[in-house]
Amino acid sequence: MSAPPKTVLQATPEEEAAIRAAVRGAGGEGLVVAGPQHVAGLTRLLADPKVSDPIYDLPRPITEESVGRWIEQSEALRQKGECLLTVSLDEAGEVAGYSRFTVWPDRSSAEIAGARRADQQNSGQGRTGVGRSTAFMFEILGVRLIGLTAALDNVRSAAAIDGAGFERKGERESVRPDGSIRRSIYWEMTRDQWTRLHRL
Ligand SMILES: CC(C)(COP(=O)(O)OP(=O)(O)OC[C@H]1O[C@@H](n2cnc3c(N)ncnc32)[C@H](O)[C@@H]1OP(=O)(O)O)[C@@H](O)C(=O)NCCC(=O)NCCS
Repeated sequence: MSAPPKTVLQATPEEEAAIRAAVRGAGGEGLVVAGPQHVAGLTRLLADPKVSDPIYDLPRPITEESVGRWIEQSEALRQKGECLLTVSLDEAGEVAGYSRFTVWPDRSSAEIAGARRADQQNSGQGRTGVGRSTAFMFEILGVRLIGLTAALDNVRSAAAIDGAGFERKGERESVRPDGSIRRSIYWEMTRDQWTRLHRL
């Protein structure tokens, strides 16, 4: 399951409350929060192993029931200010990608998992996508730390995450919902590092 960063920050009660409010209030910045109307489209997206195989924290098996429950659970967490499950839609209105932000407001920290539909992979936009999501977490959600993981053999994610400026911090064991372990490359970036990168 999603794990908070290895580095432990302590948010003040005011900071924690502001992050929770920002998560609950997000959605106007071109983000489409996943709802019951996306169950079928998200299931079609995730049913493709090219989309879902590299991601450890998805419900499995991927069925409309499990995806429907996952959307409901994510929405319950969103209302607590701890999660945002969003979808991107193509011109036909079909689900063409998703992002799931997990937020630990008490630790001023977040992570993201996500994927593009197979026909939109190898877009050359991976790094920009990671950068856009990172800006969103630091600037809109207001966290101070992001931790990311990718499977050891996920060369595209690794290149995109390195390219967006994250710092490699070894490996970690990611736990799948069934309790099994996936070895991951692990990265962190602080808001200060991000701000410095974008001042240059
Ligand atoms: C990860 C994902 C979102 C990236 O989007 P994308 O459009 O495929 O990414 P890009 O085409 O920009 O490729 C990303 C980087 O990998 C590099 N790359 C691509 N193929 C590569 C290869 N075979 N070997 C080494 N690097 C490779 C690209 O050059 C690019 O690096 P750059 O920005 O330094 O040029 C997308 O591939 C995806 O949805 N994959 C399936 C799900 C997944 O892995 N999710 C992430 C879990 S952490």
